[in-house]
Amino acid sequence: MDFEKVLNEKIELINEGLKNYLKPKYPPLIYQAPRDRGFAGATRLRPLLLPGACEAVGGNPADALGFACAIEMIHTYTLIHDDLPAMDNDDFRRGKPTCHKAFSEDIAILAGDGLLNLGFETMLSEAVSRGDLKYTKAALTIGELCGVRGTIGGQVVDLLSEEKKADEETLLYIHKTKTAALIQAALKAGAVIGGADSETLSALDEIGYKMGIAFQIKDDILDITSTTEVLGKPVGSDDKNGKSTYVSVFGFERANEDYLRLSEEVCGLLEKFGEKGAFLCEYAKRLINRVN
Ligand code: IPE
Ligand code: IPE
Ligand code: MG
Ligand code: MG
Ligand code: MG
Repeated sequence: MDFEKVLNEKIELINEGLKNYLKPKYPPLIYQAPRDRGFAGATRLRPLLLPGACEAVGGNPADALGFACAIEMIHTYTLIHDDLPAMDNDDFRRGKPTCHKAFSEDIAILAGDGLLNLGFETMLSEAVSRGDLKYTKAALTIGELCGVRGTIGGQVVDLLSEEKKADEETLLYIHKTKTAALIQAALKAGAVIGGADSETLSALDEIGYKMGIAFQIKDDILDITSTTEVLGKPVGSDDKNGKSTYVSVFGFERANEDYLRLSEEVCGLLEKFGEKGAFLCEYAKRLINRVN
């Protein structure tokens, strides 16, 4: 497989899909703000994982494109809100001024709300037009994992743990919910669309958990070791906000060790999917050395 070529084709499909869903109508600002925030400099991790999992379990990844766009909308809403002055108060994202800086705080709140809603509209419209219960189940999986028991709950505990050192259990709760949950959601929803059985779904749940914790550990590390130019978002944001991070709770060395161990476990588990899982497996290998 020419991985680079396949990756770029997949990203192009996602970008085209997102542009279509966000075609400006009236009032243009509510399309312009998320479109503007949505494109440059995004990794597209979650919308790549979702059809990747569909393919790995024997489904057709094209069936999962609408859901891939939807999960990226939901992810982008979490970032727009995460950057707000009331939350992490950051000025750069994806190499540009954050939504509230480029537009205004009120529009950034509404742009986030709009993306969250559009994500669910997109999934429900897929479910209705395809008339297949598995799409409704996939939407429910994402709903459960990005809500108060997932991403939102994690963001709450992340904020409540500022300026104090969270204990290990609390830190793991934060990482599991604020970050791993949406990665688990991407893999599980894709697998549901691909027709996976319950054993395969639990395998992908475990892979998503490990990949998600590893992803947030690396994010915490890069906040210290990288540069704003490379990351496209400010370094030192965690320190500025007195955040509890994997590095502040477990130390730098343990963070690096756990990151590598979890990433290697993910690759080992993905290898079991064989040829159909080749894209996902190769992608997970590339993530290990990610610099942004
Ligand atoms: C950032 O996610 C938020 C975290 C969970 C660490 P990404 O690093 O995937 O952000 P984009 O989508 O590439 O901007
Ligand atoms: C963000 O964690 C998690 C979500 C947005 C749900 P961070 O606050 O560490 O993410 P960045 O570093 O701003 O991307
Ligand atoms: Mg945050
Ligand atoms: Mg942040
Ligand atoms: Mg961070």
